[in-house]
Amino acid sequence: VPVAVLASGTGSLLTALLDAAEADSAAFDVVAVAVDRDCRAAELAAQRGIAVITCRLGDYPDRGAWDRALTEQTAAFAPEWVATAGFMKILGPAFLDRFAGRVVNSHPALLPAFPGAHGVADALAYGVKVTGTTVHLVDGGVDTGPILAQTPVAVEPDDTEETLHERIKQVERVLLTDVVTALATRGVVTDGRKAQIP
Ligand code: GRF
Repeated sequence: VPVAVLASGTGSLLTALLDAAEADSAAFDVVAVAVDRDCRAAELAAQRGIAVITCRLGDYPDRGAWDRALTEQTAAFAPEWVATAGFMKILGPAFLDRFAGRVVNSHPALLPAFPGAHGVADALAYGVKVTGTTVHLVDGGVDTGPILAQTPVAVEPDDTEETLHERIKQVERVLLTDVVTALATRGVVTDGRKAQIP
C-alpha cells in the first residue's frame, strides 16, 4: 500500500517508517517524502532512494498556491495514506480535500492536552507527571482530528524538553509505524469524533 510521508525535521519518525516499509513483511511502502524545507529528513529519504518533494512556502505567492502545489506533487505518487512525521506546517484545504480522512499525524503529547508546535515543552512547563504521544487523523484544525492511538510516557523530575522529547520519540516511532501498518491492512471506521481501526 503506497504511503507518502511529510516531514520537516530530523526525520527520526520518517526513519522508523522507512525501516518498517523495507521489512519483508511490510504492509506498506513509502513512495515519496514531501518536505517544506531543507532538512535531515529530506537527506535521509534521498539517501534511501525515496522520491523527495520539496515544497517551500516561500517559493509561492501565497499559502493557497503552496497548498495546491503540495497537493498536486503528492497526488502524483497516488498514495493511499499520508503520514505527517514532524511536518511543521498546517495542511491547507486543497490537501485535506484531496486526501480527506487519509492523513495521519503523530503528536508528542496526549491530545487534547498540549496541541501545537510546543507540546513537549508545554507539558513540562505545566508540571504534568504523565504525557505521551497521540496518533490521530488530521482534520482542518491543529492536532484536533479523531484519535487513533495513544501511548503514555512518564515525566521524570530531572527531564528537560530534549530528554523528554527523546523518550516520547522512542514510543512515537513504534506507535506511528503500528498505526500506519494497521491502516494499510485494515483501514479505519470513523463516526464523528470517534475513529476505530477494525
Ligand atoms: C515528533 O516528535 C513529532 O511528533 C513532532 O515533531 C517530532 C518530529 O521528530 N511533530 P523528527 O523530525 O521525526 O525527528
